[in-house]
This record gives sequence, C-alpha cells and structure tokens, in this order.
Amino acid sequence: MLTFSQRLKELAERGRGVVVLTGAGMSAESGVPTFRGKDGFWEKESVEDLATPWGFARDPAKVWRWYDERRRQIAACRPNAGHLSLAAYEARCGDLPLVTQNIDGLHAAAGSRRVLELHGNIFRVRCERDGLVTEDRRTPLPVIPPACSCGGLLRPDVVWFGETLPARVMEEATAAAESADLFLVIGTSSVVYPAAGLPAVAGAAGAWVVEINPEETPLSDQVDEVLRGKAAEVLPALLGGAP
Ligand code: OAD
Repeated sequence: MLTFSQRLKELAERGRGVVVLTGAGMSAESGVPTFRGKDGFWEKESVEDLATPWGFARDPAKVWRWYDERRRQIAACRPNAGHLSLAAYEARCGDLPLVTQNIDGLHAAAGSRRVLELHGNIFRVRCERDGLVTEDRRTPLPVIPPACSCGGLLRPDVVWFGETLPARVMEEATAAAESADLFLVIGTSSVVYPAAGLPAVAGAAGAWVVEINPEETPLSDQVDEVLRGKAAEVLPALLGGAP
C-alpha cells in the first residue's frame, strides 16, 4: 500500500509552489513506449541513426519514416488518469509549472496550461533552411521526407542528442525549479541532462523532492521521498482524480 509522508500531504494540499517534471513513463499507461528498459526504443533502435542531427543529415527519409510511425502511434493515444489528475490539480491550484521531456503533447491534451516542453513536440515541423516552425498533425505524412514551401527540408521540431534545448524554455524550467516548495519527478530514468539536473536545482533551493516511478533510478537515493508506483495510479491518489 502506498503511503505519503505528512510533509508531502501538507504541501500537496496547500497547492502552492508545486512544480512537476515528467518523462516517458508518464505516458506509458497511455500506450506510448518509453526509451529505456526492456521494451524501450533504444533497446531496438539506433539513437545515432534516429535521434541525432548527423543521423538526419545522412538519411532524412529513414528518420522521417520512424517519426511518421511514432506520430501515427501517438495520435491514437489519449491522456491517462495521471495526465488528467495533473490538469485537474492545476485548475484547482491556479498555477502548476509542468516541465516535460515528452514530445507527445498529452499534457496539453489533458488540459494542462503551463507545459514547458524541453524536447519539443512531435506534431511540429521545422524548416532546416528558413527555421519556420509549424504544426502538422497529419498521419501519415503525404511525402517523406517533407519539404517546406521555401524548398528547404523539414525536420521534426524535437531536440536530438548533440543539440541544445530551447533556451527560453530551459530558463523558465530552471526558474520554476528554483522557486519550488514541492518538486515531483514523474516517470523519468533521470539520465538525460540537463533535464535530469532540475531535481537537484529544486532540492538545493529547499524544495521537497519526490520521485514517482515503479523502478529505481540514479535519482532515487538523492530525493526526499520515493513513491514506487505508476503515474496513473499514484497521481490520482496524491493529488485527486479528474472531476
Ligand atoms: P526513459 O525511457 O529513459 O525512462 C522512463 C522511466 O519511466 C523509467 O525510469 C521507468 O521506470 C519509468 N516508468 C515506466 N512506466 C511508468 C509508469 N507507468 N509510471 C511512472 N513511471 C514509469 O524516458 P525519459 O527519462 O523520459 O530524449 O528519457 C529522457 C529522454 O531520453 C527522452 O526525452 C528522449 C530520450 O532519448 C530525446 O529524444 C532528446
């Protein structure tokens, strides 16, 4: 049975200064595969080929075929009870900075309003030539690799390994971590930086840091409290369910 510390119960009930960081495990119960672990993408696929700027330069069609399939899978997924719990909690608290490494857009689909997407969004495309970013939700894409109206090659508007995160989003995420009283780290293996450094930023600034994850991670022994369970079960129990 899951139990919460008195401190956590009080902070969650107060609902001020709560900040959330999510990773792929947040969407696992929506049917979106994670990256690591036995069924994770990076067990079967090559990070170098599919998630680096040099992999894309080498073979854009290969990268786009993989993203096209992921877009199709994600388009069929719906927010789970965890996403909905966070959105309902935000509506009650008024403000809930929600930093996510996920590119699936499921937090916004659940109704969360202050979503800080550190790694971009799979339903946006960006022109390699003129830098224009546009939303494109078509699945499948009619042409692979897709091209911009300027003739440039389009790429997914996501952050790949070897690339820097969008500076303004990272600044806002860091500022939120620095001002947090309660920092919830949900469904991330905590190995990809700089996102994995945010719990330490929050902890150093005095936040109560809580990990929600069914598995142990490198962060587990550095946090104030660990809730071993799935996001879609733990969050409604901690923050309340969707109305
Ligand atoms: P990972 O796949 O590395 O980790 C997923 C975590 O979710 C693991 O620690 C699991 O134990 C946990 N998990 C699984 N099911 C869960 C559930 N139902 N509830 C809660 N937790 C669960 O995913 P991330 O940490 O998000 O980057 O990976 C970070 C980044 O690496 C991703 O954003 C992506 C990837 O390569 C880029 O594409 C740039």
